[in-house]
Amino acid sequence: TGAVTLDSGYGNTGSCKSEITFIDGEKGILRYRGYSIEELAEKVSFEEVAYLVIWGELPNQEQLAEFQAKLAKYAIVDEGVKTILSGFPRSAHPMAMLGAVMAAFGSYYETTGDSEEDILRIIAGMNSLAAYIYRYRRGLPYVYPASGLSYAGQFLHQMWGEPTGEPKVNSVVEQALNKLLILHADHEQNCSASTVRMVGSAHASLYASISAGVGALSGPLHGGANQAVLEMLEEIQNDGGDFEKYVGLAKDKESGFRLMGFGHRVYKNFDPRAKILKSACDDVLEDLGVDDPLLDIAKKLEKVALEDEFFVKRKLYPNVDFYSGIIYRALNIPTEMFTVMFALGRVPGWIAQWHEMRNDPTGRIHRPRQIYTGATERSVQPIEER
Ligand code: CMC
Repeated sequence: TGAVTLDSGYGNTGSCKSEITFIDGEKGILRYRGYSIEELAEKVSFEEVAYLVIWGELPNQEQLAEFQAKLAKYAIVDEGVKTILSGFPRSAHPMAMLGAVMAAFGSYYETTGDSEEDILRIIAGMNSLAAYIYRYRRGLPYVYPASGLSYAGQFLHQMWGEPTGEPKVNSVVEQALNKLLILHADHEQNCSASTVRMVGSAHASLYASISAGVGALSGPLHGGANQAVLEMLEEIQNDGGDFEKYVGLAKDKESGFRLMGFGHRVYKNFDPRAKILKSACDDVLEDLGVDDPLLDIAKKLEKVALEDEFFVKRKLYPNVDFYSGIIYRALNIPTEMFTVMFALGRVPGWIAQWHEMRNDPTGRIHRPRQIYTGATERSVQPIEER
């Protein structure tokens, strides 16, 4: 034991050693297993990134083909898992449904909870179930996975395909989604990854840990920010496009309002993911022939905020969630599904972090200390005297 050091929000605490993701917040560098995010987003598929993040190396052709075949096999989930959703009101938030379904998922199989089979089932099954969550909320029937599709393509097919028809996936949408998923694949010890490690450190199963990660991600300061950004941009639009008013509100601490999609614990010059997404936004909207006034509002808001002393002094820059929502919107993905899309991208990271933690011979249960500030010892008064 000894003296306990207070580190609010663990801003200065290294909770583990990790070989997965490198971030240099001052220089705006993000690398998975040594490969820069820029190069990965340009050159490879999400499946290759998932493989890289989890197993440490990019797959060769044979390994990739085998991995894709296994993902197709595991995309077919136990029929019973879907029935869990039928207890939910159709208006339930998709993240609440995703958390519940992931917690229950492992119970449908005979499993050790930490095998390669569990990894495949979680990655592929979450894709199927996320698409079904979208359909369930609209009273639409489940679409079974098809073979020969990419991870992004499978999701799009299961979300919008005809239950009995051939898959028809728009390749511009598929490519854009592939890139978004890659940019979200891991981000070292962020709130949800730390949650996954925390829960897993008690030797809880991968399913229980992933479900807890989904819960952490749903918060608006974390993954839920992508939904919050779009709602904020819509509010600004409905308010006559007065973005300066919202910059003013964000500067006023009394207002309790924050510019959603701005700021980051680690990045202090720019978020490299946001940079990629800003230019991807222009490309995707042009390719799809979408003219979205929200993109214009977002760019103006960013410009005003970046020139303002309040934001400059605090090193607050747009983060990954600032532009991602505009792309999801152009792809026709509804706002309430945005954080689910983040979860689909992040699941390889959660799995890799969980396994690294469990395989660390020096690892032990995560159990932070505290500095107690409550009452000193006192004795119980009889109830009639309280
Ligand atoms: N708008 C206005 N002021 C802000 C913002 C913001 N978005 N973010 C931070 N600040 C201010 C904050 O009030 C504080 O000011 P002061 O030093 O005067 O007290 C200072 O900047 C530092 O903020 P902090 O809350 O101590 O920073 P943090 O590292 O604990 O929090 C953050 C990081 C991302 C939670 C925070 O910047 C935030 O709430 N941003 C908005 C939500 C958001 O976009 N989240 C997505 C994060 S990136 C990807 C992900 O995880 O999903």
